[in-house]
Amino acid sequence: MTKIIYPGSFDPLTFGHIDIIERSLRLFENVVVAIITNPSKQPLFTVEERRDMLEEIARKRFPKVEVDVFHGLLVDYAKRKHAQAIVRGIRAVADYEYEFQMALMNRRLAPQIETVFMMPAEHYSYLSSRLVKEIAELGGSVRGLVPDNVEKRLRKRLRASS
Ligand code: PNS
Repeated sequence: MTKIIYPGSFDPLTFGHIDIIERSLRLFENVVVAIITNPSKQPLFTVEERRDMLEEIARKRFPKVEVDVFHGLLVDYAKRKHAQAIVRGIRAVADYEYEFQMALMNRRLAPQIETVFMMPAEHYSYLSSRLVKEIAELGGSVRGLVPDNVEKRLRKRLRASS
């Protein structure tokens, strides 16, 4: 049984992430979505909030997916979970350099763990959590970019901070 880790900040989850989860499930028996607890960037949502949002979606749409959190090195986490691979979404050429560097560094740290890249649907190729936050903060609509539960939380969070 191949187990694959889909790691990320998920701050917040978007339809682009969901697209990658769906594609991973077509190829791998066990998919673990792993939220990093200590990203270098200051997240908008706490790790508990990010986990809640992902679990709400997983319960409804992907009951077989495990949602987890991790800290420290990704390859150490993957080893602890007995995963064989890591999946990352690549949207555009701009993502490639960073992802390539990270994949090769992870390979150096743990040669037995493969990185698999997947492309989301074209209509999500310009979608990112960063832009979603920026649009929401500036009062724009994020409908169709994030699931309803995420949209609601974004509205609540931004109301609270304004
Ligand atoms: O969603 P993101 O922010 O692009 O995800 C980046 C993530 C979490 C995959 C990356 O920052 C990561 O793997 N962090 C864990 C620390 C680590 O292993 N660093 C060495 C990478 S070569």
